[in-house]
Amino acid sequence: MGALAFFLDLHPALGDFRADVIKGLSEDKKSISPKYFYDEHGSELFRQITDLPEYYPTSTEKKILIDNAAEITAAPGAGAAVFEYGSGASEKIEWLLNGLDQPTAYVAMDISKDFLIDAASAIAKRYDLPVAAICADFHGHVHIPENILPTPSKWLGYFPGSTLGNMTPEFAARFLRRAGETLGGDAQFLLGVDLEKDNAVLNAAYNDSAGVTAAFNLNLLTRMRRELGAEIQPEDFEHYAFYNEELSRIEMHLRAKKRTQIALDGHEFTFQSGETLHTENSYKYSINRLKALFDETPWRLETYWTDENAWFAACLLSNK
Ligand code: AVJ
Repeated sequence: MGALAFFLDLHPALGDFRADVIKGLSEDKKSISPKYFYDEHGSELFRQITDLPEYYPTSTEKKILIDNAAEITAAPGAGAAVFEYGSGASEKIEWLLNGLDQPTAYVAMDISKDFLIDAASAIAKRYDLPVAAICADFHGHVHIPENILPTPSKWLGYFPGSTLGNMTPEFAARFLRRAGETLGGDAQFLLGVDLEKDNAVLNAAYNDSAGVTAAFNLNLLTRMRRELGAEIQPEDFEHYAFYNEELSRIEMHLRAKKRTQIALDGHEFTFQSGETLHTENSYKYSINRLKALFDETPWRLETYWTDENAWFAACLLSNK
């Protein structure tokens, strides 16, 4: 095919790193959005995380999708079009496009414009299929432009990687409601979700012995220093990750090993010894809590596939 059928730029509020850091450090409980992990070095560290023996989500999801590819790709029937949320490098799409019966289009949505255009263009070159790209974030309403792509038998939303886990359950429900509006009445949705499991397995996945997750977390401080000119002593901070059982989420923090300061643009932010900067939540679900989440959305859980340990689930949802 070659060129993109369309590129739609909804100008996502990428956020202003400087303003967000100042705001987050000014709060009573200091925090910063995990979206700032992914500068070039951070993206490379995340890729390394996915290869770690302790970090089971990526390999487990991949195995589930490959082992059940025939059944999963048969589910939408012939002539479906795929809408991928947070497509990133579009590495996880080919098995799906290869397996679907006469897919009619592929639309990639991501917040990072350059990544998005490169990745979608690469798919457009390789597949005899209209491919389009939408630059947007998970906050906004997305309307797929009409009369540009062939009308599919149905839309299949695709959101792998358990990125849903970065959202609070309230935000996840709102996101899924919006996806229901975007994809329309007859749509289906293939969603990758990390499941609750033994705390030791969860804690190990975010405290790997090679220290890559620690480097990924601490990279945020180096990035603040490099891009914002913040005065920070990264050696005063340590990686701190634990499973918060009450809230069913992994929390990642940067914890001050001693009293220390971060100075930025005339502000001075003091950390008491042991005080933390909260950098990420990664929610884990049970199937029952997933069903309760979907109940607040237009989606119903049609079926799901899991691994032998039931550590991860690929969920197939249908628009009610
Ligand atoms: C990319 C959000 C799915 O929460 O497991 C990996 C990010 N953070 N190790 C996750 C992450 C620390 C990852 N997600």
